[in-house]
Amino acid sequence: MSSPVLGIMTLYLNEHRALEERSIYRRMILEGRKRGLDIYVFTPADVHPGGKQIEAMVFHSEKGWSREWRPFPDMIFDRCRIQRNRRFQQLLAFREKYGHLLFLNRPLRNKWTIHQTLSGKPAFREHLPETILFQDMSDVNRMLKSAALIYLKPINGTGGRGILRIERIKSESNMVLVQGRDQKRRIITPRKVHLSRLGSLLQHWNMKDKYLVQEGIQLQLPNGRVHDYRMLVQKNGEGQWELTGCAGRMGAEKSVTSNLHGGGQAVAMNRLMKQWISDEDQRIEIHTTAEKFGIDVASFLEDTYGDLCELALDLAIDKSGRIYLLEVNPKPAREVFARIGEREIYQKAITQPLAYALWVYRNKKPGIPRKERSIITTVKKSTRMRKVRKTR
Ligand SMILES: Nc1ncnc2c1ncn2[C@@H]1O[C@H](COP(=O)(O)OP(=O)(O)O)[C@@H](O)[C@H]1O
Ligand SMILES: [Mg+2]
Repeated sequence: MSSPVLGIMTLYLNEHRALEERSIYRRMILEGRKRGLDIYVFTPADVHPGGKQIEAMVFHSEKGWSREWRPFPDMIFDRCRIQRNRRFQQLLAFREKYGHLLFLNRPLRNKWTIHQTLSGKPAFREHLPETILFQDMSDVNRMLKSAALIYLKPINGTGGRGILRIERIKSESNMVLVQGRDQKRRIITPRKVHLSRLGSLLQHWNMKDKYLVQEGIQLQLPNGRVHDYRMLVQKNGEGQWELTGCAGRMGAEKSVTSNLHGGGQAVAMNRLMKQWISDEDQRIEIHTTAEKFGIDVASFLEDTYGDLCELALDLAIDKSGRIYLLEVNPKPAREVFARIGEREIYQKAITQPLAYALWVYRNKKPGIPRKERSIITTVKKSTRMRKVRKTR
């Protein structure tokens, strides 16, 4: 029996066919091989116009990366992140044309749609900062009346780009401090302005229908740097949602965002939370609540938008211990766990989608004879037994 084939679909970053996360894919391919899963990487641009073959990127330990024409895979793991160019249009056309194939995950929606979807479930509401879609400056002024701190964020933004933080200055009435990052993620010079001048300052940002106005959570540590948490939830080899890990992030100096790509630093969750919440029982309770919340969010979004195999949640915890969801990331990086030295969690973050893919193949692939399903199950069980023995 030949191995099931998983195609990792991604996008080139430029005309020279540069790839993001090549080393993660290499690890996935090697781990897949151990588990009886054949993996290759491709982009929509590599599909033959005839629609039957793909010029796949394959990896062999002896000769490294090479290209091979391969048939379409049994399953597709969509790792494509948003771009504003022709390559992204090509991706949209691919998803449309080949939507009937077996995907581990379907695309999610923009931040505003996700927010509206999640606020439809009462149990989630206490974890959602107040959020509206920017129409005009009256939205900003209104929110600044009820909250001393607000964030303005692009609904399709990533990596902390184009995010502004506006804070009322306590000692000076009608004055606010504006900080943030531009679209290229450069830190902008902080400015103190009168509320009446805020509109003209923001005019060229073109926020109508493209930005969220969101209640800001105070996340500044005693050292002045902001912090939050990155929680990774993934489907496991039994097709169930599970928490893989959670790590803290501390923003760069003078940054209003904690993203690692913006100079943020990864810190073990507990180490970071100890600086913020002194009571140990409360910390344990926060952890339990956050885990349940993360899993509930993932399964709710999957029920709403179709198959998902992993999600990372950006979580903020305020001084009173309340958990807020800042963002849901459907194409998460896993680096944060490597950076804090949590090697086992990092390894699991890489292999969990493979275990899940094998489960999907057994359970969702139409037309696999029952006999073959049981062979795949047996291979998997024996690998698991070896693992159990090792840990004893
Ligand atoms: N409402 C908020 N209150 C406090 N900090 C926030 C808020 N929203 C975002 N941030 C900070 O900005 C960072 C980036 O925001 P996020 O919504 O995750 O967008 P991106 O897609 O750019 O990562 C967060 O990780 C957090 O550090
Ligand atoms: Mg984020």
